Amino acid sequence: MLRPTYPIRTARLTLRPVTPDDLDDVHAYQRRPDVVRWMLGAEPRTREQSRSSVAAMAGEDAWRAEGDCLTLAVATDAGVIGVVELVWRSERDRTAEVGYVFHPDHGGRGLATEAVTALVDWGFTGFRLHRVYGRCHGRNEASARLMARLGMRREAHHLRSYRFRGEWADQLVFAVLAEEWWARRAGGGPTQA
Ligand SMILES: CC(C)(COP(=O)(O)OP(=O)(O)OC[C@H]1O[C@@H](n2cnc3c(N)ncnc32)[C@H](O)[C@@H]1OP(=O)(O)O)[C@@H](O)C(=O)NCCC(=O)NCCS
Repeated sequence: MLRPTYPIRTARLTLRPVTPDDLDDVHAYQRRPDVVRWMLGAEPRTREQSRSSVAAMAGEDAWRAEGDCLTLAVATDAGVIGVVELVWRSERDRTAEVGYVFHPDHGGRGLATEAVTALVDWGFTGFRLHRVYGRCHGRNEASARLMARLGMRREAHHLRSYRFRGEWADQLVFAVLAEEWWARRAGGGPTQA
């Protein structure tokens, strides 16, 4: 079993497993249409749906087998402001997919960048990953900017490649290799944590 030593701390944030007590904070963003706008299969959640989501995320505290998702709550003094996740896509290829969702009230300050940086740092050290990639809807500009800010390469723009809310949608793929990540970190980027 692979799991970080909790909590992971950055300059402004604490990353740790989700707990049932996080329900109010998680529901505060999961209920918002603007948060789920570009997320595949996601709709604004009722409180009961958020309760189920929190219960599921609370179990995602480690990687036990390929396919597992590690989900961490991102907390400030104001409570949980979002979650970051790392899905173990391939054991053989030491590859994971990164994901993130944050409350818009806490956007625009680099907090998502800081949290994802810490998680990816951990992926490349603790999990000894070779490659981390992320995908987003072609119109999810905030997500694409975040991955670019992290130093991830835009590797693909798949045209009209998947069904999204009843129509064909473009998908962007960003990725970074371990050596690229550490070279950039040594140079001061993406975010000093
Ligand atoms: C994707 C998402 C996390 C991005 O949020 P965000 O607020 O843009 O990201 P950050 O918290 O890292 O803030 C970055 C912004 O703050 C600014 N900023 C201010 N201080 C900063 C700092 N110290 N470091 C980095 N950026 C900083 C940046 O310039 C950037 O603004 P810009 O994008 O207008 O240039 C957010 O939009 C979200 O949760 N969306 C809904 C869920 C979603 O779509 N998830 C992705 C599915 S693929």
